[in-house]
Amino acid sequence: MKRLIYLDNASTSFPKPPEVIEAMNHFMIEVGANPGRAGHERALEADRIVRNTRKSLAKLFNIDDPDRIVFSMNVTETLNTVIHGFLKEGDHVITTSMEHNSVLRPLRHLEEKGFITLSVAPCDGKGFLDVDSLPSLIRKNTALMVLNHASNVCGTVQDARAVKQAVGDIPLLLDAAQTAGCFPINVKADNIDFLAFTGHKALLGPQGTGGLYIREGLTVNPLIRGGTGSISEKEVQPDFLPDGLESGTRNNVGIAGLGAGVDFILKQGVQGIREHEKGLTAALLSALYDVAGLTIYGPLKADGQTATVSLTFDSLLPPGAKYDYGGCGAVNLELMEEEIYPAEAGKILNSEYDILVRTGLHCAPIAHRTLRTFPEGTVRISMGYFNTLEDMEITGRAVRRIAERDYS
Ligand SMILES: Cc1ncc(COP(=O)(O)O)c(C=O)c1O
Repeated sequence: MKRLIYLDNASTSFPKPPEVIEAMNHFMIEVGANPGRAGHERALEADRIVRNTRKSLAKLFNIDDPDRIVFSMNVTETLNTVIHGFLKEGDHVITTSMEHNSVLRPLRHLEEKGFITLSVAPCDGKGFLDVDSLPSLIRKNTALMVLNHASNVCGTVQDARAVKQAVGDIPLLLDAAQTAGCFPINVKADNIDFLAFTGHKALLGPQGTGGLYIREGLTVNPLIRGGTGSISEKEVQPDFLPDGLESGTRNNVGIAGLGAGVDFILKQGVQGIREHEKGLTAALLSALYDVAGLTIYGPLKADGQTATVSLTFDSLLPPGAKYDYGGCGAVNLELMEEEIYPAEAGKILNSEYDILVRTGLHCAPIAHRTLRTFPEGTVRISMGYFNTLEDMEITGRAVRRIAERDYS
């Protein structure tokens, strides 16, 4: 089999630890039953596995009560659950100009219907939120602050603790799609009210898994209601967690795999994973820094970002040229005669170098507008725990040759 270098981990992580596949196989072959729905031994075993995943996640995020974590299909469902189930008519919401469409689309939908009003706090050319702008955006009816913890476009990590301090009692919904599993998150120390996570990225679980932590004292109405296996004598939805927000049979085989992914992370230590990914980011950035005709976006410092690097092959164009300088990194000033479009560069990386990346807008048009890479977007190189320094060397060389148009 040819060796592919998979660098699309911001979309979904690959490969998964063998333990994840083993746990899913075990569930399918030796358990198979529906947790919380019967008293027989297989159902009890399924229940134990699901509970263990909840406990492992609670340990990872420093959550006291695992039952305040509810499972979902993905973070998109989680974000919609909070946005639709927590906000009331007339509420005001603050979000940022680096969000994913999973946040912006449900918020814009409610805004268009006249249900809520929305303020978008500005982020700078590196993607960092201007935390000082937040107090002036707060209104009497501000009910929620929604923050993308790390940009899926260029990796910029926001200071969640500072944001929570700036908004005070207003609940903070943290979209941790890009940080859960690869960046330390402590809901108590960071004062996070709602933590939204997806299972298939850095948490190393399978696709079709995600979840939400809800701080004690906050109530979210369910998006859907139905059978939960609990208080079956009643025709109304349970009002306790996790059952209230977990109607219908879950992706329990996926939750088994997610638990194994989280246990793998706990074994390595999230700080160890972070250090490894910082090393990869630093290596890639230094391999790309002096490539003529390249613009790199984001903090350009492994410390301030996840292991995601975005770039365009259009150099730093002078004022008045077709594009303004939107990037913040490339140190060279050499101009490319003609830019290479992100989609084309992505195809060349795949066909000539067996390197898999994602190009375009990454479901985050507002972030690309902030970075001034809209509408073509960028070439996004996103590393994961299983990438190596050698992968970074090969990728750095490949990008250089594409910029030099020396690849065929
Ligand atoms: C910041 C952010 N939010 C939300 C999502 C949506 O994730 P999912 O497809 O798992 O729901 C992503 C995925 O790319 C993301 O990066």
